[in-house]
Amino acid sequence: MKALVGLHLSLAVIFLLVDVSTSFEWKNSAVLDNNFLILWTPDERDIVFEVQVKTQGYVGLGFTRDDRHVGADMVIGWVDNNGQVHLQDRHVKDSNRDPAMDSSQDYHLLLGYENKTHTVLRFSRQYDTCDPRDLKITNDTTKVVWQYHKEEPVSAAGVLPPHGAVRGSRPLYLVQRDSQPKRMSRNQQAAPNLKTWDIINQQVKLPMGQDSLLWCLVVEMPNIQRKHHVVKYEPIIYPGNQQYLHHMTLYECRGKDSDLENAARMNGSVCYEPNAPSLQCTSIAATWSLGSEGFNYPLEAGYALDPTSGPRFYMLETHYTNPSLDNFISDSSGLRLLYTDQLRTHDAGILSVGIDPNWRHIIPPGQREVVSEGHCVADCTGQTIPESGVNMFAVIMHTHQLGRKVRLRQIRASEELPPIVSDTNYDPNYQEYRRLQRPVKVYPGDHLVAECTYSSESRTTMTLGGLTTREETCLVSALYYPRIELSLCYSLPSLPTVLQSLGIQKLKQGASPVIIEAPEELAGMTLEERLVHYNWETSFQSFQEATHRGTFKPLCWDSKGGIIPNTDVQEAHYPRILKPYEETALPCAKKVPRNKLSRLFGEDGDLGASVDPDSDEANAVERGQLVRSKVSRSSESPVAGSSNVMRAPAFLILAIVVAIFR
Ligand SMILES: *[C@@H]1O[C@H](CO)[C@@H](O)[C@H](O)[C@H]1NC(C)=O
Ligand SMILES: *[C@@H]1O[C@H](CO)[C@@H](O)[C@H](O)[C@H]1NC(C)=O
Ligand SMILES: *[C@@H]1O[C@H](CO)[C@@H](O)[C@H](O)[C@H]1NC(C)=O
Repeated sequence: MKALVGLHLSLAVIFLLVDVSTSFEWKNSAVLDNNFLILWTPDERDIVFEVQVKTQGYVGLGFTRDDRHVGADMVIGWVDNNGQVHLQDRHVKDSNRDPAMDSSQDYHLLLGYENKTHTVLRFSRQYDTCDPRDLKITNDTTKVVWQYHKEEPVSAAGVLPPHGAVRGSRPLYLVQRDSQPKRMSRNQQAAPNLKTWDIINQQVKLPMGQDSLLWCLVVEMPNIQRKHHVVKYEPIIYPGNQQYLHHMTLYECRGKDSDLENAARMNGSVCYEPNAPSLQCTSIAATWSLGSEGFNYPLEAGYALDPTSGPRFYMLETHYTNPSLDNFISDSSGLRLLYTDQLRTHDAGILSVGIDPNWRHIIPPGQREVVSEGHCVADCTGQTIPESGVNMFAVIMHTHQLGRKVRLRQIRASEELPPIVSDTNYDPNYQEYRRLQRPVKVYPGDHLVAECTYSSESRTTMTLGGLTTREETCLVSALYYPRIELSLCYSLPSLPTVLQSLGIQKLKQGASPVIIEAPEELAGMTLEERLVHYNWETSFQSFQEATHRGTFKPLCWDSKGGIIPNTDVQEAHYPRILKPYEETALPCAKKVPRNKLSRLFGEDGDLGASVDPDSDEANAVERGQLVRSKVSRSSESPVAGSSNVMRAPAFLILAIVVAIFR
């Protein structure tokens, strides 16, 4: 008997060992190109990566940010003819040259082999290696770059073959990426009787000679008698058309049923045509963009399809791109929603926070950083969120082409908490839900701010808020549970604020286009002319301050487009922040060990002491020194910044309190 137990035990141990060494459970994966697969798992301090590349030559994986035009942190590896595995931490300084060796080697090889077809390398690194040559891996969008070759370096020094490398790059969330359920649970997944709702474009013909198309298809929800939960969704890509698809977004629609019914009878149309009835389809229900495999709701919540209380109509917006102007392309791609009648504990809701898409949202041309803020005021959360709060578990940010940074800030009782999400390397062409590591609680009375930073350097004319791609927007949508009435929580800069920021006193009543009445020197000018001729070079700073400090109208709507009771006030102010949020970053102290190889091949001449000023600045921004503190650097006066301005009063009050109690 004893012997048997012992045998069982040892079998179990062997089984365990085998299991650990062969099928490491990866949290995330992405196919970078057809020959290059990466798998990774973000741990407490490290991220573990594995690359599986269809080559017997060398492979390279790197990380960079969009705002640094050259320079990527790279790791290059290969398996040589003797079966020895090489892994080198390098960096790209000049895109025309091979990645140079780092003096500090911060990638740790865990495993490597090659078979007849593939090279496989597994390695880990810390989020922050403290090496200015490496990119700090954060919650920001990371631009992943890859490179591989059919040959490997001739010697351990790693001089790469001069020509013929395959290269590519793609934005990815490395940390807050939604993970696919484990493959082995596929059978269990089939159990809860999933039904599918396919929302598919009907043979959309890409227009000849046009490099992009925004196509909108309005659909009615499936004919179901009672509430169901959507538990996941995924893209359906028409075979061969992946290259023409940029993104697909499904919006919940509000507004007149008759308009929506008419729209749903068509097979879709070009979006946002001037003469089309304007449909209020703004809350994002589902979204796919290049690189995404869909989204899985957490086990405790699902997205409700509810024939009695939910929206009945949805709009699928598909952004097609056709840069090489290929002819006769027809597409029938779309999204598949998987739903079940086995309801989960909570209904997930979508809360959108941002600026109402409206011309009063103004972005001056030619500026490196323009900050716009949309407010979800304490009254709105106070009227709708239960005492026990709601839990936000996934967030998606949305701007058009000028967006560079986005944050969702949370202010509770004059104290600013850490941002719910923040991306200082936001890429408007990569929009996907990010999964928060832990759900974030939002309580009644919390004030939320969607803060978008734009770069308008590429524009010579004004950009106004709106729904078309040439216009701009600032929205952050969060998935949360349990579902509440509040659906859109926006703000709109008040007219006096906008006018004041442009030096205008009065507009002519009811004129279209909008005409200025006062002051006298501007009378008769259209608003547009004023905006076009405004001297932004001298006036940008005061414009930015006036917009930031100015009043706004809060807009709090339920999912049917109704106003939440007791929130319909004309003007609200920026919330008081007595205790600003300050990000604490542990300073990086690290001796840079120099190995023989790097002394031979490293090119660290430009690395003074051990700090790269370039990367130092980048890090400083990441460590939370406010966007606006950068804007203000050039001006003498302290600029309105939730953090900078409020810090003074906080210290003052503290000083006074201390003085009183002495
Ligand atoms: C080589 O390894 C890769 C990655 O694990 C695997 O996908 C492939 O099937 C293997 N090829 C052969 C010939 O064993
Ligand atoms: C990402 O954000 C979460 C929540 O704000 C934070 O706890 C975590 O440390 C961040 N991760 C990284 C790698 O910066
Ligand atoms: C919509 O597309 C389908 C399939 O292509 C077609 O059969 C139908 O007639 C179209 N309906 C309209 C209103 O164009």
